[in-house]
Amino acid sequence: MPDTADKTFYLETFGCQMNVHDSEKVVGTLMQQGYRQVQTVEEAGLVLYNTCSIRDKAEQKVFNRLSDYKKYKAQGKIFGVLGCVAQQEGKRIFERAPYVSLVAGSASYRNLPAMLVQIEAGNRATGLDDRETEDCFETEYTARTNPHRGYITIIEGCDKFCAYCVVPFTRGKERSRTSASVLAEARQLSNLGYTEIQLLGQNVNSYRDPDGKRSFAELLTAVGEIHGIQRVRFTTSHPRDFGRDIVDAIESSPVLCDHVHLPIQSGSDRVLDAMQRLYTRDEYLERISWIQSAKRDISITTDLIVGFPGETEREFEETLSLLDLIGYDSAFTFKYSPRPNTPALRLDDAIPDEEKSRRLAVLNEKQRSIQTHRNKRHLGQSTKVMVEGKNPSRGQWIGRTSQIKVLNFTAPDGAELKTGSYVDVRVTTSFPNSLVGEMVETGG
Ligand code: SAH
Ligand code: SF4
Ligand code: F3S
Repeated sequence: MPDTADKTFYLETFGCQMNVHDSEKVVGTLMQQGYRQVQTVEEAGLVLYNTCSIRDKAEQKVFNRLSDYKKYKAQGKIFGVLGCVAQQEGKRIFERAPYVSLVAGSASYRNLPAMLVQIEAGNRATGLDDRETEDCFETEYTARTNPHRGYITIIEGCDKFCAYCVVPFTRGKERSRTSASVLAEARQLSNLGYTEIQLLGQNVNSYRDPDGKRSFAELLTAVGEIHGIQRVRFTTSHPRDFGRDIVDAIESSPVLCDHVHLPIQSGSDRVLDAMQRLYTRDEYLERISWIQSAKRDISITTDLIVGFPGETEREFEETLSLLDLIGYDSAFTFKYSPRPNTPALRLDDAIPDEEKSRRLAVLNEKQRSIQTHRNKRHLGQSTKVMVEGKNPSRGQWIGRTSQIKVLNFTAPDGAELKTGSYVDVRVTTSFPNSLVGEMVETGG
């Protein structure tokens, strides 16, 4: 039986950067409520999963995982399911896994203290949103795990309803925070020594300042002007709302990183239309041309889905030709998987899994050869990296460039570097997924 005087919790997180940051909010809130975080389920009184529902029968995996832990219920442990599967499955979770006490989606975390009181008293608690909530998604406390890169959610939810996607159902409707509160949090982070800020949202380009003071591009610039902030990143951009002003902002402020993640999903207009992505291949290419004509070398990365219902071989080849045309620096590639509630569920998912796998392999092979070629352009360049750690087996430091590339490097005379510091590195070798170099001594 866990000691009630020593309230402990174990939290495991799945999914995207927003979920990772949500977990920081959950940890902060729990610590404020007198809980201590532990690293194993065995040590914990409260076991929480912050779940992701984006693809691959995610809910089934969560139920399998929960049934593994059924045995712990007898020991008095309390279980909670948070995040996107919690929101999607709601109270059905109690039916399928009766030993679960808490089911709470991301919009409810500021109410965690009250929900904790309920579950500690042996009751069940839910924090579920009906897609109508206007609730602020900020919690009062956040326990950040990375001491140098601070995440800030600027917009929650999504109103785009792409045909394949669960997010509009799991994260509710779009709600933006005021730019004043985002800037206040960024200043606070800078005072704590953070030098990199990453602004988060499923669709940051839809950001609308409730006070009407700043556009998204103006917010980026304003965060970059905060004393002490050296890097500003943002993710994810939706092509439909991606304005030229974002490229202008990057061009005018060296603090804004040379990187845009702009998911295309497919290179075929027919498939894009069926996906309800709200842009055509040409409109997307126009946005790419804004980015590529910038004076700075802005890296471009993307997300792609193969095997969307009805995707023909020809349409798949249009995606391949798009890769050649654009030359992405990196791509996240996925096989389409049908998801609950989504409009695409009505379409026949008739492409066999082997065929989806084949298309995925062809796509990955092409992208890998593009990256091999693209990364060669960095050879001989000197570039600033943030030191992220050390690879002891190779004696190399791990750095991250403004373009979000991993650059492993050696320091002169085995010098010890501080994580979070910035150094200049000259690139000597390139691979498809990383670069290698030597630190340059700047003499100052
Ligand atoms: N808001 C972001 C995407 C968030 S989800 C955007 O609009 O781009 C991250 C990626 O997962 C998506 O870009 C898409 O490529 C992939 N994805 C989402 N739903 C999927 C599904 N049902 N099957 C396969 N991949 C999916
Ligand atoms: Fe999903 Fe589309 Fe919203 Fe992105 S924009 S979260 S893919 S519905
Ligand atoms: Fe997954 Fe939810 Fe993020 S479904 S990708 S954790 S928004």
